[in-house]
Amino acid sequence: MELAQRKRILLFPLPLQGHINPMLQLANILHLKGFSITVIHTTFNSLDPSRFPHFTFHSISDGLSAAEASTKDVIALLSLLDVKCVAPFQECLARLLSDDGEEPVACLISDAILHFTSAVAKCFELPRMVLRTGGVSSFLAFAAFPVLQQKGYLLDQDSRLQELVPELPPLRVKDLPLIKTNNPETLYQLVEDMVKEAKSSSGLIWNSFEELEKPALTTLVHDFPIPIFHVGPFHKYFPACSSSLMPHDQTCISWLDKQESNSVIYVSFGSIAAMSDKEYLEIALGLANSQHPFLWVIRPGMIHGSDWIESLPNDYLEMLDGRGHIVKWAPQQEVLAHRAVGAFWTHNGWNSTLESICEGIPMVCMPCFTDQMVNARYVTHVWRVGVQLENGLKRAQIQRVIKRVMVEKEGKEMKERAAHLKEMVSKCLQQGGSSYKSLESLVSYIISC
Ligand code: UDX
Repeated sequence: MELAQRKRILLFPLPLQGHINPMLQLANILHLKGFSITVIHTTFNSLDPSRFPHFTFHSISDGLSAAEASTKDVIALLSLLDVKCVAPFQECLARLLSDDGEEPVACLISDAILHFTSAVAKCFELPRMVLRTGGVSSFLAFAAFPVLQQKGYLLDQDSRLQELVPELPPLRVKDLPLIKTNNPETLYQLVEDMVKEAKSSSGLIWNSFEELEKPALTTLVHDFPIPIFHVGPFHKYFPACSSSLMPHDQTCISWLDKQESNSVIYVSFGSIAAMSDKEYLEIALGLANSQHPFLWVIRPGMIHGSDWIESLPNDYLEMLDGRGHIVKWAPQQEVLAHRAVGAFWTHNGWNSTLESICEGIPMVCMPCFTDQMVNARYVTHVWRVGVQLENGLKRAQIQRVIKRVMVEKEGKEMKERAAHLKEMVSKCLQQGGSSYKSLESLVSYIISC
């Protein structure tokens, strides 16, 4: 692609694992198409340039104090980043755009949450495209916040949790993309800014595919009259590349190699979700009682008040006699593609959901916050490739839900539907497929910027 080779794209990921992965995957895809790539990143959750020698990296100082960087309130963290990064980002752009030695910059691709990049890019007359790293369906739920707020669905939720939200079928009030925060107004403002600046951007890019989210994409095209590109699933364009902030424990694969096909339940709740030690113990006992082999990711610090797994009963793993394997961080895409994995107990972050769909793995859904709630509802009620664990975490209920997915007829039917989605993934990426064509349009569009 001759023309693309003479253009550079600047990419700015939000510095959280679930956002870094898709942005760097997109960078790889665009690099394969011939573009030069510059990644702008914060010092918080800083990236390792040595893993991507084919890209140029520019670090900006986000000015977060140690206390700010370690807050458990994600919304507080995001709103700080949106304020503190403005000036350093502006200086960085000024430097990058005045560098005569580099190829001309075609555009900026910013994470949707970094909405301040819109005003800065405008100052430099630089086209700003947006990558929304979540699904289209959950984005529409965020875009509906003003209506939802007006109708009282966001506040005063407790008495209405099971109520259907007619504006957003098949969501119930409890599936709306909220998160516990000390300041809900900050969340609403963040969502409003994200949606507004996405709408006024030069184009919106999705890590999703048409066949998966067709009705949502139709609504989006109508409500957001800007170029829309559904290019996903990004990670299927090339063998796994690692933008992981934590090292992958490869013992997962040697352990999986010893297990029977379709026998293992893989358990992981992504990079942010945390839980109480009571919930953690119920999970441990539910998994033990299920009699299925399991591979469980427990991040250090994920259990409130514990460094890692020291609060597990001393003889827990011995008692299981090799049936359970616990790691701090897994090579997730490789794990999900392993023949031994039969189900994924997930928090339904969009990346995890998509990675599971790509490998035809049915899910046990345990959404914790924001878009995860919407994703779980789609998994269970639209794509019908999973069951949701609801009404608290109790060992007997965990055991029951694992049985439904791993053993019972409904689980087998989920597996068949999941296999069908997996086939759709490979079709959409082939020449003439929906994502293939959308990527071609994206490349032509960026060249014309
Ligand atoms: C966050 C939000 O929680 C999520 O709702 C939103 O959609 C994206 O940002 P996170 O919670 O980390 O993401 O979940 P997810 O989107 O699933 O991303 C996690 C990523 O880390 C995945 O790409 C997964 O493959 C990777 N991962 C996870 C590992 O590499 N190893 C692990 O052990 C667990």
